[in-house]
Amino acid sequence: MRIGHHQLKNNLFLAPMAGVTDRPFRSLCRRLGAGMAASEMVSSNSLLWGSKKTMRRADHSGEDEPRAVQIVGSDPTMMAQAARFNAERGAQIIDINMGCPAKKICNVYAGSALMQNEQLVAEILRSVVNSVEVPVTLKIRTGWDRANRNGERVARIAEDCGIQALAVHGRTRADAFHGEAEYDTIAPSRRR
Ligand SMILES: Cc1cc2nc3c(=O)[nH]c(=O)nc-3n(C[C@H](O)[C@H](O)[C@H](O)COP(=O)(O)O)c2cc1C
Repeated sequence: MRIGHHQLKNNLFLAPMAGVTDRPFRSLCRRLGAGMAASEMVSSNSLLWGSKKTMRRADHSGEDEPRAVQIVGSDPTMMAQAARFNAERGAQIIDINMGCPAKKICNVYAGSALMQNEQLVAEILRSVVNSVEVPVTLKIRTGWDRANRNGERVARIAEDCGIQALAVHGRTRADAFHGEAEYDTIAPSRRR
């Protein structure tokens, strides 16, 4: 599998997990065979970039390649700035989080809340893709809730905007982390 010009050694991805996939955990997973391991999400709010937590998350010295950093936010300009900030600090892939269901993220219209506004999705994606030279990837859910499963439409928007790889958490935001994932929805062979 390739993302932009990065040839991955296999197609096994470590799912990004805030509070779990820190650098030691990513290194361990890469050593045990993962072809790709993205960082924990970093806020697009520049006021937080000086914080110890964000500085630690933005430190990639000595890390295996390609180094992917996940950003989260809702403002196209701030997201572009965050992408540039991280690319200048060694990120070789920028991943955008539109899958997080947490209230503190969705209440500021970021993470999976963005799936309710396809126009804003497109604005953010275009803004980030145009702001960096490195490939940009996207993480989504299948929709906001079961009545609004627009994951496929968002995937097409992503393709149009120049997103180079898409990861899908196979649940709606309303389903959080509960129950069986929607393997039928995310099956690659299905064309509707
Ligand atoms: C503790 C925890 C933290 C997570 N944090 C993130 C995150 O920061 N970014 C992200 O894109 N997904 C995050 N996820 C979602 C996972 O990457 C993954 O998509 C989800 O757990 C579905 O996995 P499954 O398909 O194996 O059920 C998190 C999941 C868990 C359990």
